Amino acid sequence: MDPLEAAETEYLATRVVEAEATGDERALEAALRPRTLDEVVGQERVREQLALVLEAARGRGRAPDHVLLSGPPGLGKTTLAMIIAAEMGSPLRLTSGPAITHAGDLAAILSGMNEGDVLFVDEIHRMSRPAEEMLYMAMEDFRVDVVIGKGPGATAIPLEIPPFTLVGATTRAGLLPGPLRDRFGFTGHLEFYEPRELDLIVNRSAGLLDVALTDDGSAEIASRSRGTPRIANRLLRRVRDYAQVRADGVITLDVARRALELYEVDESGLDRLDRGVLDVLCRRFGGGPVGVSTLAVAVGEERETVEEVAEPFLVRSGLLARTPRGRVATPAAWRHLGLAVPRQQQVLFDPDDSV
Ligand SMILES: Nc1ncnc2c1ncn2[C@@H]1O[C@H](COP(=O)(O)OP(=O)(O)OP(=O)(O)O)[C@@H](O)[C@H]1O
Ligand SMILES: [Mg+2]
Repeated sequence: MDPLEAAETEYLATRVVEAEATGDERALEAALRPRTLDEVVGQERVREQLALVLEAARGRGRAPDHVLLSGPPGLGKTTLAMIIAAEMGSPLRLTSGPAITHAGDLAAILSGMNEGDVLFVDEIHRMSRPAEEMLYMAMEDFRVDVVIGKGPGATAIPLEIPPFTLVGATTRAGLLPGPLRDRFGFTGHLEFYEPRELDLIVNRSAGLLDVALTDDGSAEIASRSRGTPRIANRLLRRVRDYAQVRADGVITLDVARRALELYEVDESGLDRLDRGVLDVLCRRFGGGPVGVSTLAVAVGEERETVEEVAEPFLVRSGLLARTPRGRVATPAAWRHLGLAVPRQQQVLFDPDDSV
């Protein structure tokens, strides 16, 4: 890993509002995963559709259609994949796109499958091309051709595969080639969660972790979690630490506020970097437009960090807009910083106001 990449990883690993799993968090998460569809909070549409797919398959005594789960990190794709296998009473085999570098890697996995097994391929958009082509065939015909040897002497040996269910997960559905996307019988798009749903998740997790919290304490954590269960669970763990060390162990509204202030997560779920970007944009560049590189230098970060770490959530929150001329702070951004919206900036977003 080059030093720059290492610094980036280090920063992400310590960022309390990062949506990707950080450090050894995967192990902690396992304990908090819902185990059945009924335990899953929110995602009503996907849950209902999936329940139907599974029930119909059970009724027919067959493996369900292949399932694609897409959506941003930390919303429950891996959780749902595990639930699909559990609800079908089938073993789950786990792999990921980056782990399948050769078609042979995939052939080895497929040849070891039994009828009805569920194969989970995480980050399926990162699979190699030849493996992808082998997967098309396996998904459709439950058969692959394993090529032995090279050049003119190479022979293809057909290999039958027992009917299985592929569950693919991707954070970038747009990067998936059409032929692969078309071979999934069902695609579930996961959406960001409402504060009300995150509140239920925080309460459920608190129960499992044996943490005492009040209603307004949990609502406070939920509202700062950026619509993401993984972040809600992480903030809960950090606030629990605070409650244990600096209070009497109970997470009240006041404890949650003090803890999250300490971790620099504000009422909207913005962290130090997010606020730094808005601050520089408004105070130093008059709200923009300003180029992202200039903005990055001003906050003392790499361009990629600003673009990939801070911006997506600022844009989603309606605080920052990406325009062809550069980044612009929205009126909501000025208000978020407690500043008056300058007239010429307001006009950018509300042209009717210019007369
Ligand atoms: N609907 C939900 N109800 C309760 N907890 C949830 C829900 N969705 C996710 N979680 C919790 O959030 C954490 C992250 O979920 P998960 O690992 O399934 O996300 P993911 O979409 O696979 O993320 P990634 O893209 O990083 O792989 C888990 O610990 C899980 O317990
Ligand atoms: Mg996952």
